[in-house]
Amino acid sequence: MRSVRPILKTLLLLAPLTLGAARAGGGAAPPAAPTMNPASAVQPARPAGSAVSLRALADARGLLLGAAVNPTLFDPNEPDYALTLNRHFNAVVAENAMKWAGLHNNREAFAFGFADAIVNAAVKNGQTVRGHTLVWHDSLPPWVYTIQTREELLRAMQDHITGVVTHFRDRVHIWDVVNEAVSDAPGHPLRPSPFLNLIGPDFIDEAFRAAHAADPGAKLYYNDYNTDGLNGKSDAVYELVRGMLARGVPIHGVGFQAHLNTDFDVTGAQVQANLQRFRDLGLDVQMTEVDVQLRPARPEADELARQAAVYRDLLRTCLNVRCAGFITWGVTDFNSWRAAGRPLIFDDVYAPKPAFAAVAQELRK
Ligand code: G3I
Repeated sequence: MRSVRPILKTLLLLAPLTLGAARAGGGAAPPAAPTMNPASAVQPARPAGSAVSLRALADARGLLLGAAVNPTLFDPNEPDYALTLNRHFNAVVAENAMKWAGLHNNREAFAFGFADAIVNAAVKNGQTVRGHTLVWHDSLPPWVYTIQTREELLRAMQDHITGVVTHFRDRVHIWDVVNEAVSDAPGHPLRPSPFLNLIGPDFIDEAFRAAHAADPGAKLYYNDYNTDGLNGKSDAVYELVRGMLARGVPIHGVGFQAHLNTDFDVTGAQVQANLQRFRDLGLDVQMTEVDVQLRPARPEADELARQAAVYRDLLRTCLNVRCAGFITWGVTDFNSWRAAGRPLIFDDVYAPKPAFAAVAQELRK
């Protein structure tokens, strides 16, 4: 099997350039069948998983270990996707299906069908579901941009949140209520969006209050990226959530997406000190979208080893602060939003990579 690997790799490295846009993902109606994984086209799918079940190790540690899923979950040509997900992960998040565009593309009616399929499969498999995401500047349907007044957009946002959280209340108990509201601009003010521009900064508090009213038992998270270590942006998030707590806004956790590269230094970036300060506020923390992209034009073996070390250090840090979850942003490299960087712990034929062993070793401790 190994002999076809170099050919495969070329095929697959080209794949995202040609197939990326067509990659499976959420949509109001069940999206088109995902593009075939070229690896499966030229070699039989592997028996999913290895001798070790990461899920069993995570269960033993009481850790939510999850993956983001897309329509490949239901692709009859890719049975190993679901087998790998169910063998190695006890938590699931919809990569796109539960975003505003995925659930509420038509202002007059929600479209829960595809998201329900993902959630119901997870519940059947005893997996916890993270709801992603109720309010975000991206993946908004066109009708949202037609709204002209604060009152109307505030009501539309509250109605969206109420409708979605109520629909999933019996099956989804963790929500990314607001995603990426802090900008990357100097000083890290709030990011311009229809919500900030029309409602004002209090759209964040109002979103959390609406989610809490719809499901008082749900754990409500603020989620963002490039906030993993101590830096200006994580400082801004810290001040944001500290203010929310001071105002009595129902927030329970902060998500750190951790979309990283192999040159990320977990210790040097002071990830543990950063996460701990949020824990010291009485909040839960989760690593919510972990992937570690290989750097191009580097020796592959070195990069895979670096990737394993970053996954190891990130998981170790997460466990050190008693994090509430460690979620990777995809199941296999082929399905990654940045597939060319091969950032996940399973390769394109569902084979565990060195990062898999590093995660298993850390969970065993
Ligand atoms: O489903 C449609 C398909 O019908 C259409 O043919 C195709 C071509 O336009 O688009 C498909 O939708 C795409 C969707 O992914 C599913 O593949 C959207 O255009 C595309 O924008 C969307 O990208 C997603 C992106 O969020 C924006 O929603 C990525 O898959 C997803 O990995 C990424 O995830 C985000 C998190 O939600 C938040 N944190 C950052 C992370 C990475 O950007």
